[in-house]
Amino acid sequence: MRTPIIAGNWKMNKNPQETQAFLEAIKGKLPETSVVESVIAAPAIDLNALTWFSKDEPLKTAAENCYFEDEGAFTGETSPKALSEMGLDYVVIGHSERRQYFKETDEDINKKAKAIFRNNMLPIICCGETLEQREAGETNAWVAGQITNALKDLTAEQVASSVLAYEPIWAIGTGKTASSDQAQEVCHVVRETVAKLYNDEVAGKVRIQYGGSVKPANIAELMSKEDIDGGLVGGASMDPESFLQLVNFKG
Ligand code: 13P
Repeated sequence: MRTPIIAGNWKMNKNPQETQAFLEAIKGKLPETSVVESVIAAPAIDLNALTWFSKDEPLKTAAENCYFEDEGAFTGETSPKALSEMGLDYVVIGHSERRQYFKETDEDINKKAKAIFRNNMLPIICCGETLEQREAGETNAWVAGQITNALKDLTAEQVASSVLAYEPIWAIGTGKTASSDQAQEVCHVVRETVAKLYNDEVAGKVRIQYGGSVKPANIAELMSKEDIDGGLVGGASMDPESFLQLVNFKG
């Protein structure tokens, strides 16, 4: 059985004070991590508050990015080693906003995945197509290619413990959710890609999230699909009540 994993991605929002207020509001209201893993991915400046909170509460913590070297002269980058030492559980990598605005390549993302494992954390690896690619019928091949490149040289054990997030770019922040059938179809392609690269056992263990305008009103329907094990949620994760509704969704 794959444990559902619902992750908020705050993107470049919330300062440490706002983070503290959010955490106060969700305190004592999260499901046990054996039932649903609740995760928040926050800006680096807010991570200290999250890791302190997670010592007493069933919250898993994620950085939104990191560099692929452990330390050194890389001004402005975030060290995966330092994140690990702070107690972070996950790092989101390959988000479409990082690919689009910061020109991150599949090769960068693969190097980051290796750095995250080297530092005893787990990656949440994003993939997804543009509207043009979807309309040209290229979605499945594109997503399979992104996953194949991101996982290059990772061991079966590493991949089995990874989280893969399918986020169609046209559904991010647009209010336009992929239908649950569209989301399921591509999440299935992601799982099949892992099965081809590794084996059915690894594919059966890896957790796959859908992201793109997920909200309390559609989470249960998305989670009912066979290959969807969780959500990666931007806008609807910012408000504590909405986040609590997401992680406490009734399947
Ligand atoms: P929205 O939920 O705001 O569409 O964002 C999705 C996303 O990019 C999560 O990583």
